[in-house]
Amino acid sequence: MSRPVTLPTPVLETCPTRGLAESLSCHRGEFLARFGGRAQAVQTYFSPGRVNMFGGHLDYNGGPVLPTAIDRGTFIALRVGERGARAGRLRMDSIFGEEGFEGDLSSLPTAPSGKWFDYPLGVVRSVQAARAEALDRDVELLFGGNLPVGAGLSSSASITVGTAFALDRALGLDLDPLERVAAALDAERGFVGVQCGIMDPYAVGFAAERCVLWLDCKDESFEHLPLDFQKLSIGVMDSSVKRALARGEFNRRVAECRAAFESLGPHVEGATVLRDVPPEVVEAHAHELDADVAKRARHVVGEVARTFRAREAFLAEDFETLGALMTETHRSFQSLYECSCEELDVLVEAAIAQEGVFGARLTGAGFGGCIVMLVAAGAEETASRGVADAFQKRYGVRPATAFFQGDAGPRQVNP
Ligand code: GLA
Repeated sequence: MSRPVTLPTPVLETCPTRGLAESLSCHRGEFLARFGGRAQAVQTYFSPGRVNMFGGHLDYNGGPVLPTAIDRGTFIALRVGERGARAGRLRMDSIFGEEGFEGDLSSLPTAPSGKWFDYPLGVVRSVQAARAEALDRDVELLFGGNLPVGAGLSSSASITVGTAFALDRALGLDLDPLERVAAALDAERGFVGVQCGIMDPYAVGFAAERCVLWLDCKDESFEHLPLDFQKLSIGVMDSSVKRALARGEFNRRVAECRAAFESLGPHVEGATVLRDVPPEVVEAHAHELDADVAKRARHVVGEVARTFRAREAFLAEDFETLGALMTETHRSFQSLYECSCEELDVLVEAAIAQEGVFGARLTGAGFGGCIVMLVAAGAEETASRGVADAFQKRYGVRPATAFFQGDAGPRQVNP
């Protein structure tokens, strides 16, 4: 048996060096090196990350969003034991060198530990709450992948939706996709403690190849919009800034938006979320709000309007307008939502100065992580080189870059 390896968490690779089947074959080998036992019983899964293009910080305000899944994500190797008389044990490990989890399925922790495994553990807990009888045998999981963590590409939804998918398949739970998404959300909100919106698990769980997802976070309806990647490329560049504060800042923004709705909602008949509040109502009552709360509300109403316009531009293949709207979103993040940082601003300014770049903004929650940019097909290399040169000149490091084409959702991959 080969010795287990531990790896540093991945940086964004320009292009994954190995195909998915080959990567998952190595991942399965790693599982066997750590856990031993029968190779035939080990199943392997891939779950994508996502990049969001429009609807920044709108999901928890009931607005529309426009993300797409990407072909970088989480690798999961999974084995379930035979059904036996004793209650099962859960073992979860990561190839990224951090401490794993081991415990009885009948007495799982009720509070998070602050470690990486809180995410999949939260999923196991919510699947157990829904289907207690199914988790009556040993479950072993090994996680890995090629998605940077904390880069705004939703490594968290990738792991939570992927875990729900893998457990569903391996244990024959017969969950529908919505139940898997619900388990992922429950893990993050109810166990890990991030008050995230619904965008990320939907973007991962309902992804379709070569499409972006139009998701209305008020009624949770969605639609796949095909994108012609012969004409347009979606590029991502990583500032490599990781803010320890980000989670606290994120929850603060959620609370500020809630406060905005509590004050503004009563002025709009039938309003149930901040998305329902029109700009004129925000302006009429802005003086009654805390200054920061007023800024957050202005961002939300502006972004709602921009996202609907972006949908039209997207359907009309009007990439100039689409790009201009994207850059406007970044301006709103800078001045109103205050979730950008200097490195992200440098990347965005450099991007929009390049030939062939229609627009750019930070993606994900912000405070660090990646920018996303819309680039005319054919201009990817020169444009990203120009941005990387500018960033390197300023900070001495070259930002990692990747281009994506809209990936499918979680799937079993047989090496
Ligand atoms: C994070 C959250 C999402 C969403 C984005 C901002 O990624 O997990 O739910 O709110 O930030 O658009």
